[in-house]
Amino acid sequence: MSAEDQKRLSGEAAAALVQPGMIVGLGTGSTAAWFVKALAARKLDIVGVPTSKATGELAASLGMKIAELGETREIDLTVDGADEIGPALALIKGGGAALLREKLVWEASKRCVVIADAAKRVPVLGKFALPIEVVAYGHKTTMARICVALSECDIGIAPRLRVKDGAPVLTDGGNVIYDAACNAIPEPALLAAALKSVTGVVEHGLFLDLAELALVGTDDGVVEVEP
Ligand code: 5RP
Repeated sequence: MSAEDQKRLSGEAAAALVQPGMIVGLGTGSTAAWFVKALAARKLDIVGVPTSKATGELAASLGMKIAELGETREIDLTVDGADEIGPALALIKGGGAALLREKLVWEASKRCVVIADAAKRVPVLGKFALPIEVVAYGHKTTMARICVALSECDIGIAPRLRVKDGAPVLTDGGNVIYDAACNAIPEPALLAAALKSVTGVVEHGLFLDLAELALVGTDDGVVEVEP
């Protein structure tokens, strides 16, 4: 089965968790798009809270009611993809540059479910370069301070500015992204704290202690993984 089919299966399984009347956080990326399409097809009376402009446009185009974070009562369930799923459902997210809005929505949700294809499961986080969202003003200076924070966690690399078509990628919030190719992050909580201590770092892509269930698409169907 292709990775895309595994993503579709996991998105469809997550759509089955949604009940009428729910407020639902809508993730970003290709797996989350399968979830949004499967959810829209159920035609439930729900309100979606998108984690990016792209997801908001997709949901609206499928006739889904959407609202901004903070315009509804508490979010019942958020479903979103991930770039890596490690032990205890620690995640790397932000490959689609939506990590800040994603984390805001995740943290405002009663329950978060991560969906992915099987290749996203890893024994140790860090092969996928960790996205770090940084205020555009003075970002090179901030990057130098991020290098110090990384070295304090025994990670001796310099993150790379994410560029597309010759220009820095800007997030929905107007910030830039640095990708830190750590290779291995044995202590994600330590790194998360070190990054958050750098002024100018808006958010990082480590999502720790947030997902309560992973629905992973495999060749044998959808596997449920708990922390
Ligand atoms: C976007 C994300 C995505 O969820 C992540 O990049 C996974 O994407 P895909 O489902 O396309 O593999 O974090 O910021």
